[in-house]
Amino acid sequence: MSERKKRILLVIGGGIAAYKCLELIRRARERGYAVRAVMTKAAAEFVTPLSVGALTGDRVFQDLFSLDDEREIGHIRLSREADLIVVAPATADLMAKMAGGHADDLATAVLLATDKPVLVAPAMNPYMWRHPATQRNAATLLADGVALIGPNVGEMAERNETGPGRMAEPHEILAAIEARLAPAPTGLLAPPPLITPPAEGLPLAGRHVIVTSGPTHEPIDPVRYIANRSSGKQGHAIAAAAAALGARVTLVSGPTTQPDPKGVDVIRIEAARDMLAAVKAALPADCAIFAAAVADWRVASASDEKIKKDGKSSAPRLELIENPDILKTIAHEGPGRRPSLVIGFAAETENVVAYAQKKRKSKGCDWIVANDVSPETGIMGGDRNTVHLVTAHGVEDWPEMDKGAVAEALMARVAAHLRTMTADV
Ligand code: C5P
Repeated sequence: MSERKKRILLVIGGGIAAYKCLELIRRARERGYAVRAVMTKAAAEFVTPLSVGALTGDRVFQDLFSLDDEREIGHIRLSREADLIVVAPATADLMAKMAGGHADDLATAVLLATDKPVLVAPAMNPYMWRHPATQRNAATLLADGVALIGPNVGEMAERNETGPGRMAEPHEILAAIEARLAPAPTGLLAPPPLITPPAEGLPLAGRHVIVTSGPTHEPIDPVRYIANRSSGKQGHAIAAAAAALGARVTLVSGPTTQPDPKGVDVIRIEAARDMLAAVKAALPADCAIFAAAVADWRVASASDEKIKKDGKSSAPRLELIENPDILKTIAHEGPGRRPSLVIGFAAETENVVAYAQKKRKSKGCDWIVANDVSPETGIMGGDRNTVHLVTAHGVEDWPEMDKGAVAEALMARVAAHLRTMTADV
């Protein structure tokens, strides 16, 4: 028996990038997907329903109050019959409506009525993308379980405008579609569905989450140490967000000036080996998130006494040996000990996503939160962060958010994922 074609419902918003949808439809159909399109009123100013319909090979749906449409296939059926809804281009206005739960036309009504995963490809002017309102809306959509692809950085249709706002290219959107519609690899679960409010209590009630945060200090002698740069802001924000969702949280932290998050058990350590021991002692857990910047090496034989600078003997030579890899160790714990969801961080200064994908495999963890920490980004020690979430199903590019919002979006995804895992058992 041949497998049923996967169905994509493409919601086309009113932006100049709408023309790229024609290419997207063509490529998606070539790959064997059935595509049905909904167009907003503004979209029809950029591409004609006739061209869209010719490429989908289906009628194009435009009107919420069309008697014909509703009789033939209501907006509820339209949204439920799809396996995935793709919004491309997603204008600032369409994203705002989605984030606010509006349903005043067919496109927004379909998006509100759906129980299917949604992938959004934003496209707008860089100023509109960077506006706090759009960033807030993007963060809300992420927290609602919506996946974002792009926007890319590049030239805008307007002359002399460059920056983030270009819609992802059709082949990139198609890769994101394939990642979300691909059958889950053996032993892994499908991407989480839309986050629905829990039947009762908070989404992480009854769950135990372990978070590592901050740097580690590896002693040279009692007063000197080797360390990494890390403010602990992101890790502490994650611990706080997990606690706010009702989890029991163990935060294992290296030395930082961050205040202890409310309602979190904080275990303070200095060196990597102590961090590993504290994490192991805190197991079992449902989820472990390794946000700490652990020193890769420690001094082979740290001195018990302060090393003296007496002006006569030459400068001491330090022999370094490798520290245990905490993330890797925990990801390889046996059944009953390994948390169901193990998440690592990857701070890179180049090829961020490619390295993160490699790291996910080499560390044996489930997800990697990757970010570019080159000095010009200001991420290191700063309040804002731009991350990519790398899972077995592909890469999501999250918009720039403050570290608290990244933490909230991540924990919302964790809650949704743990819920699907439990539901599948
Ligand atoms: O190998 P690298 O340091 O780039 O990997 C980063 C990830 O691994 C982070 O999640 C970090 O917390 C974790 N890590 C660890 N123990 C180490 C080194 C890194 O848990 N010794």
